[in-house]
Amino acid sequence: MADFSDKLVRILNYGSLNLALGIGYALKIFDVMDEKGCALSLGELSKATGLDARYLKEWLGIMVTGGIIEMTEKPDTDDTFFLPSSHGELLCRRAGNNNLGVYTQEIPLLTSCAMAAVKQGFQTGQGVPFSNYPDFQEFMSELADAKHRKVLIQEFIPYVDQGRLEKRLQQGIRVCDLGCGQGVAACLMAQAYPNSEFVGMDNHEKALEQARALSKSFGLSNIEFINQDAAKICDTPEFSRHFDYVCAFDAVHDQSHPLDALKGVKYMLRDEGLFSMIDIKASTNIKDNTNHPMGPFLYTVSLMHCMPIGLNDNGSGLGMMWGKQQAMDLLREAGFSKVCAEEIPNDSFNLHFLCAP
Ligand SMILES: C[S@@+](CC[C@H](N)C(=O)[O-])C[C@H]1O[C@@H](n2cnc3c(N)ncnc32)[C@H](O)[C@@H]1O
Repeated sequence: MADFSDKLVRILNYGSLNLALGIGYALKIFDVMDEKGCALSLGELSKATGLDARYLKEWLGIMVTGGIIEMTEKPDTDDTFFLPSSHGELLCRRAGNNNLGVYTQEIPLLTSCAMAAVKQGFQTGQGVPFSNYPDFQEFMSELADAKHRKVLIQEFIPYVDQGRLEKRLQQGIRVCDLGCGQGVAACLMAQAYPNSEFVGMDNHEKALEQARALSKSFGLSNIEFINQDAAKICDTPEFSRHFDYVCAFDAVHDQSHPLDALKGVKYMLRDEGLFSMIDIKASTNIKDNTNHPMGPFLYTVSLMHCMPIGLNDNGSGLGMMWGKQQAMDLLREAGFSKVCAEEIPNDSFNLHFLCAP
């Protein structure tokens, strides 16, 4: 009883800390403190961030009592606040693939988008429209940036198919990034492999507009972004056997009709083609996820976004924690002749499902 009471108290404290961390990340307070690299008074922090001192003081209260920022009392002058560099390594934008700070924004964002709609979903069983999440693509893009910028070209691509994919990309092949969102991964690949041609596919026009702007800012001429419902790819003959490589980063589990989308991927691939589905590393069986280091977090993201989005349009609502077994079954049902699930080096979040048509 006492143990569980302690646990609930810790939950209340950590839940509150998550919210305040998300605010600090969004407002770049950690980045400013990290760049300064020294202890700052409230006034100095307010000046350096351009943020209101009264709000900062309350926020610092959370950070100090929560053990994120260190405070030093100064009897004769202003108290100071310091973000240890080891905390900055995980909380700041410089953290790259180790960036956990970016994730602290996710639950607060999804709560503000969909709390009422999800509660209603418990009564009706209906999905939540994508329009409930106006800021989600922007967040995903930030996440993709943190995830992809330091590892996609440097680590992920060279590891796919034991380096053979990288060689083919260097020589020149046709690639489709399915569910490309705001296009970060597709643009990075198009920049790194100028002999290859890239298509970013998504059905969210606003995200595609951002993706086109990104490709322009990169100065790319070997990429286009098209509005295409993944579930209807097989209705478009021009895509038949058009691509040598299709990838889908975190983009299959929240589709309404994932089986049709995967059949579409197979339809798009040439005989020698490959499909990389990068999706959350979890088990389909809840019990097997009890030791998952981020189980409650990922199930919550799924409840607040992936599952209700996937229920729209009479969808299957797989959810983010659909798990390896269900993913393998669906890939086989879609008709892929070879399906294997591999660990990704330095990525504990995801699995790589490498498939051949
Ligand atoms: C979680 S986001 C991932 C975006 C990007 N791949 C990344 O790693 O940041 C999933 C993407 O799939 C797209 N999507 C969902 N359903 C789709 C469908 N039926 N057809 C095409 N794209 C779809 C969404 O618009 C969204 O951009």
